[in-house]
Amino acid sequence: MTSWQAGANQDSGQALLKALGLKRVFGRGESAITALKDVQLEIPAGSMVALKGKSGSGKTTLLNILAALDEPTEGQVLFRGREITRMSAKERSALRRKEIGLVFQSFGLVALMNAYENVEFGLRIAGAPVKTNREAAESALEQVGMKGRMKHRPGELSGGEQQRVAIARAIAHKPVLLIADEPTAELDTRMGMQVMRVFRELVSDSGMTVVLSTHDPGIMKLVDHVIALENGRIKS
Ligand SMILES: Nc1ncnc2c1ncn2[C@@H]1O[C@H](COP(=O)(O)OP(=O)(O)OP(=O)(O)O)[C@@H](O)[C@H]1O
Ligand SMILES: [Mg+2]
Repeated sequence: MTSWQAGANQDSGQALLKALGLKRVFGRGESAITALKDVQLEIPAGSMVALKGKSGSGKTTLLNILAALDEPTEGQVLFRGREITRMSAKERSALRRKEIGLVFQSFGLVALMNAYENVEFGLRIAGAPVKTNREAAESALEQVGMKGRMKHRPGELSGGEQQRVAIARAIAHKPVLLIADEPTAELDTRMGMQVMRVFRELVSDSGMTVVLSTHDPGIMKLVDHVIALENGRIKS
């Protein structure tokens, strides 16, 4: 097939994700809503890409499909050349556990667990071997600059710090793709910038590919590519 498959570890610049003719319809009949239509895109490996668009334009719908959490009604998604839209639910879930990390707007940390426990718990539910969990969790917390505060619970951390812990949890299993749905929406500008700096370091130091959605024009200036959605279609 395509030549970039051969060098999976050095495929920087090649397409990590490709979407062809995506369509997503929710519901059926009179109440059907077309959330995405004719979506075509290529996301180069080792890049940071932002989806922008008004509320309801389809950003979350598209991210969920790219993260193999949801299936399109029509069209294909290729992840490193593999067609995820043909995989069984079990295969998709295995792919997510191994190769994809997810970050949400509201962080989603467990309030009663400290930062370290949150990250380690994430590894455990993903089925990572327990022996290596400690090292993996600490190294992920180090990468986001939170190792020094890993004994603190979410309630004792700022919003930016909580989001960095959530990023540590998302990257502890070393995914190649990080999908983040409005990761800075609940943060002030300074905290949002901290989080963006962490994403940039993950791209440049670990070769990760980051796809995020945002409403913030300041954030769009910090990414390599911006994809604009309007009524479920790509505008630019
Ligand atoms: N599960 C669902 N069932 C029915 N309609 C849905 C569902 N999920 C999303 N939609 C509809 O699809 C369209 C796109 O929604 P989506 O959540 O992708 O937008 P968004 O760009 O992420 O918006 P926001 O900026 O508010 O998060 C909207 O019209 C929404 O109401
Ligand atoms: Mg959304």
